[in-house]
Amino acid sequence: MATITHLSQRTPTVSVDDLLAGFHPSYRFGEVSFETYRPDPAWPTQAEAVTKLRNFASTIGKSKGGFLSNLFGKKKAEKSGMYLDGGFGVGKTHLLASLWHLAPGRKAFGTFVEYTNLVGALSFRQTVEVLSTYSLVCIDEFELDDPGDTVLMSRLMRELSDAGVKIAATSNTLPGALGEGRFAAVDFQREIKVLSEQFDVHRVDGVDFRHRGLPDAPTPLEDDAIEEYAMARYGEKTYAVDEFAELVAHISKVHPSRYRALLAETDVLVLHNVETITEQAVALRFVVLADRLYDKDVPIVASGKPFSELFTPEMMAGGYQKKYFRAVSRLTALAREAQTGEPGQ
Ligand SMILES: Nc1ncnc2c1ncn2[C@@H]1O[C@H](COP(=O)(O)OP(=O)(O)O)[C@@H](O)[C@H]1O
Ligand SMILES: [Mg+2]
Repeated sequence: MATITHLSQRTPTVSVDDLLAGFHPSYRFGEVSFETYRPDPAWPTQAEAVTKLRNFASTIGKSKGGFLSNLFGKKKAEKSGMYLDGGFGVGKTHLLASLWHLAPGRKAFGTFVEYTNLVGALSFRQTVEVLSTYSLVCIDEFELDDPGDTVLMSRLMRELSDAGVKIAATSNTLPGALGEGRFAAVDFQREIKVLSEQFDVHRVDGVDFRHRGLPDAPTPLEDDAIEEYAMARYGEKTYAVDEFAELVAHISKVHPSRYRALLAETDVLVLHNVETITEQAVALRFVVLADRLYDKDVPIVASGKPFSELFTPEMMAGGYQKKYFRAVSRLTALAREAQTGEPGQ
């Protein structure tokens, strides 16, 4: 029997331990390794990335000396951070997750946004305290579009680095023709000024491994057909069936650090009457929900507007455009997965 739930009626509570337990690579990157990363010989920086990251992994958990002891230490200072810069789909997340899987000790893996949400949920001090006990902190998709968050993350990395925690991060890039985050490495180094000496910045060149940019949004289905369509396709699963407007209203009342828990039991999302979001704060929350849906690879069967129209043209052109493009790309992939059977990469 299929089970029907409604996300808009779930209010998960999440303890600090539960929150931290979520900081590991998503299902999609649950099994990746440096062995399953196939460097393209046409782009030598890919094989170099693997070598550098393997070397970096061998320094993790060894010395807890941190910044000062590195500064005054006898042997050549080991960098406390690695930053992978590069275009969309060249395998940055795959590499970062492989590092995480290989590293010894306590380790955290999350996106930039997840860390900012963690700080929001725990406070800056407590986040530093907790993560200082880790040997590795991986930050995927470092975002440079919000000065406040960038400063916050820069401070967090500084404190963790001083506590001897190794840090690895990747750049956040746009799919396809919209271009990759050109000069992202330069921006990153400028933004993390005090730390940049401590980071080895490595550029990964190449083309999108999946050889595609923003796929077309599938034609939306008729509203009265979507539940039946979803159940015919997926059978005995747990479905979250929601009105788009109610879901949007609900997620503004649930802290984004709880969205993972919100989706915990959802196999398939059936979403009625998608509309264009016109408020920036609401749109940014939906971006986080989209990331969690994508992490969990939840197919979406939706009616109403296609996800390509989820955000206003002003939003897609504004300061947060990277976030919005990523969300559209991910939601579209999940909708295509449900409607065409293509894996939602
Ligand atoms: N060189 C590679 N060998 C094997 N799989 C790869 C390679 N590059 C990318 N992939 C796969 O392609 C998909 C996109 O890669 P991803 O790591 O998400 O790219 P990025 O984070 O740079 O945008 C993932 O499923 C990843 O496992
Ligand atoms: Mg990535």
